[in-house]
Amino acid sequence: MEEFLRALPKSELHVHIEGTLEPELAFSLAEKHGIRLPYADVNALRAAYDFSDLQSFLDIYYAGAGVLRDAADFHALTRAYMERAHADGIVHTEIFFDPQTHTARGVPLASVLEGIGDALREARAQNGTTHRLILCFLRHLSAEDAMHTLDEALQLKAGIAGVGLDSSELGHPPSKFATVFERARAQGLLAVAHAGEEGPPGYVSETLDLLRVRRIDHGVRSEEDPALMERLVRERIPLTVCPLSNVRLQIFSDMGQHNLKRLLERGVCVTVNSDDPAYFGGYLLDNFRAVTDALQLSRAQVVTLARNSIEASFLDDPSKHRWLQQIDALAARPPA
Ligand code: ADE
Ligand code: ZN
Repeated sequence: MEEFLRALPKSELHVHIEGTLEPELAFSLAEKHGIRLPYADVNALRAAYDFSDLQSFLDIYYAGAGVLRDAADFHALTRAYMERAHADGIVHTEIFFDPQTHTARGVPLASVLEGIGDALREARAQNGTTHRLILCFLRHLSAEDAMHTLDEALQLKAGIAGVGLDSSELGHPPSKFATVFERARAQGLLAVAHAGEEGPPGYVSETLDLLRVRRIDHGVRSEEDPALMERLVRERIPLTVCPLSNVRLQIFSDMGQHNLKRLLERGVCVTVNSDDPAYFGGYLLDNFRAVTDALQLSRAQVVTLARNSIEASFLDDPSKHRWLQQIDALAARPPA
């Protein structure tokens, strides 16, 4: 199964570039900029990755992002992720970034975009990995701040394909960002949003109705609402599920309790993703391996997950068709 998982062409649709910051790179950037991290070494920092909920993770994640200061830092971060992605058999990736985390510290949005963009273009030239970039608004900040960020990105002609919504979910309903998303969509941007991770299924419905998103990020709590489940299946709305993240943030007590297999068997278009791999113990292949082992997924179910990742992506139809054919050809070969 291991080699089959790796060889399957896959796309990753839910990864925060700031969440790919490995402790080794964090320490080397801290040294470069003369920043003292409040941890003795890489091991002490890793040991602090013991989360009780989403907020306990976000506190460490935003503090970690403080070492990212110039375009070269964002370039190094993104290159490292793209190398891992290629090694895991990822052929296409849709990357989130959180501009407000950086602009609030005085890092220009143009530097963030330059570093990430250069690394993405290099990866495409070297390995053929394609990408889309998705600008996420931080939902714990105001809608005015989000609108300002959107305007700045539009002025810079930032090369972004879409907008997303992340950070602390509870207490920050999607309705808060309806106007911002309306403007983004009117400017031709695609929309996705985190919902139903810690928040109730009502936030997923509201996200679909008010933000008109093409996918829901996480969405695992949708299972609590039968009418919503029917809607997700009927309207074929993808959920970008992040198994290791959900266990590390205690949404599920262990991987055996994860609902990914049930969602799949109910006919929801679920995909597997890594979210913040440097913090949650693994990249995309680690996530595939973890769910395949704990939930005893069949080969056919793994193939469906890979197909869903292509279908739910923002690739054009001919590219989707090409990758789906390659997946089907691989699936048709007898197991080694
Ligand atoms: N930002 C980075 N990872 C996140 C997650 N899992 N949920 C919400 N916001 C995030
Ligand atoms: Zn996320």
